[in-house]
Amino acid sequence: VLFEKLKANNRIPFHMPGHKRNTKLLGNKLPYDIDITEIEGFDNLHNPEGIIKEIENKAKSIYQSENSFILVNGSTVGILAGINSVVKQGDTVLVARNCHKSVYNALEIARAKAEYLEPPVDEYGICGKISLAELEKKIDLYEPKLIVVTSPTYEGVVSNLQQICEIAHFKNIPVLVDAAHGATDLCMIEDSKADIVVMSLHKTLPALTQCAVAHINGNLVDPQKFRIKLSVFETSSPSYVLMSSIDYCLDFLINNPKNSQLNINYHNCLSEFYNDCEKLNNLKVLSYDENSKIIIFTDYTNINGNTLAKLLRDNHNIEIEMATKNYVLAMTSICDDFSNYKKLSKALFKIDETLEKREYIPDKQLHLPYKKLESWQVDCCDFIDFNKSDGCVCGESIWAYPPGIPLIVAGEVVSKDVIAYVKDALDNGVNIQSTYNKLPKEIYCQLT
Ligand SMILES: Cc1ncc(COP(=O)(O)O)c(C=O)c1O
Repeated sequence: VLFEKLKANNRIPFHMPGHKRNTKLLGNKLPYDIDITEIEGFDNLHNPEGIIKEIENKAKSIYQSENSFILVNGSTVGILAGINSVVKQGDTVLVARNCHKSVYNALEIARAKAEYLEPPVDEYGICGKISLAELEKKIDLYEPKLIVVTSPTYEGVVSNLQQICEIAHFKNIPVLVDAAHGATDLCMIEDSKADIVVMSLHKTLPALTQCAVAHINGNLVDPQKFRIKLSVFETSSPSYVLMSSIDYCLDFLINNPKNSQLNINYHNCLSEFYNDCEKLNNLKVLSYDENSKIIIFTDYTNINGNTLAKLLRDNHNIEIEMATKNYVLAMTSICDDFSNYKKLSKALFKIDETLEKREYIPDKQLHLPYKKLESWQVDCCDFIDFNKSDGCVCGESIWAYPPGIPLIVAGEVVSKDVIAYVKDALDNGVNIQSTYNKLPKEIYCQLT
């Protein structure tokens, strides 16, 4: 609907943006013709009453939510606003340690105190579900003002949100679910009763990059406060191209329900792929609760994940989503050309033939670094030799990207294990990033 209205708009533009929709001058390779600012009749994302409100109402009905908000700055902005609409300086937040860096940034902005839930790591090095026993214990111990969990995770692990929320709500604590990878789950809100749910439409559905949606439910979080915080963190010039993409994506969800032929074909082709791959000799294909993420584990072979990614790219023209030392992660979606699953399995069999079997010795897991300070309390830092940083309080965060989950956060103490882990990951071609990006030479640390 928004797209058609944008297309029909032929008013002479004495307003932003500066391209003036002049496709005669600029050509039409980019969508200049529908890229406008908030002119009369096109509503305002930060106070929607018209066509944008209609899109948010559509999202409400699809996701069975009491309040939905469309986002043009990804899940990141929903997480920043969600945490900052609930938490005040000094409040404790109970956070699953495998959360995305946007959660840590939100905590830093809020000047909150972080306590961690530590999901168990399985034999493949992948973080599992939140333990309900740990949750109950840590709620009693820390009396948090908010709980933040990721479900599904980047790898597709889904936690028991219904029970997590029941436990939290019993103590009147709201739960924020980072469901950046869960936008295909239309029942999540009804089933779990989660208070804040943030979903990236662009990750798993047909939406342009940055398109996302947030939902606020129940009476523990004030939707008005959330809207106010959104207007702090989100651009004041929201893209109508992105908003029409969100609108289109929501229509796509309505037109392609679970029992649609397209959805059935998608899941059948995916099952066929997993069945085919059971016959691989050396590579091991895994999937977790949400099986749209294909994990191809390389540790039984003589190559690492990064080499597998390179072989797929160079020899088979296949670009995967992420490579770690131990596996690659391939993302699928309902919009795939399903014949590509056969191409991927064929490529994997070809590569598999050339590999040698290796005894699998699981890597030593990195223990949670000791937290000395909150990230926002770290002061008087400078760059020091990374090799000599053992025992120093870190002044920056380090993460592998993707998925952007911090290995160490500012305020935590660098250990020999952290140094060895980061060096080993870099040696294996993992894309390790840090706030200041001076690794492996230097790290930003507190000097005292
Ligand atoms: C678990 C998780 N949460 C949040 C985000 C941020 O989402 P976005 O890129 O839509 O801002 C990501 C991005 O990779 C993610 O993996």
